[in-house]
Amino acid sequence: RERQHQLKMQQLIETFPLFAQVDEDAQEELLLLFKAKSAPPGERVIRRGDRGDGMFFISSGAVEVRLASGAIRLEPGSFFGEMALLTGGRRSADVIAVDFCQFEVLERRDFNMFMSRHPNLRAIVSEMAEKRTEMNVLR
Ligand code: CMP
Repeated sequence: RERQHQLKMQQLIETFPLFAQVDEDAQEELLLLFKAKSAPPGERVIRRGDRGDGMFFISSGAVEVRLASGAIRLEPGSFFGEMALLTGGRRSADVIAVDFCQFEVLERRDFNMFMSRHPNLRAIVSEMAEKRTEMNVLR
């Protein structure tokens, strides 16, 4: 069991650059909060206009963020779905699985709780969201 836990933790640290940004206690906490989710190719994981229910971290597979100006492919280690959670607004784009995907999902109330307790992580995620928004405006 302990070995399993260590392996899972190691895997998360290696896969997600964001994970390496927080201390060990916060990593343990995230591991408990993450809900595993999977999607077959073609599945719409996020629908533009919906309320945000969670932030997704890609463990395996790939997704496409469908913007009016074109599609952006996100691969393992990337995250998506942070924008609507940060703004409290609606989903800004459709996100479609293009492979068989496995995600770790941080649900909205866990996201709010965790981010309020880890402002450094909130800042990193917010900065990323801002860059993405800027890029979408310019494209
Ligand atoms: P959200 O608006 O909650 O749902 C759609 C998601 O698509 C959004 O959060 C971002 O995570 C993602 N997204 C939007 N624009 C971009 C972009 N330019 N690059 C990468 N991901 C994006």
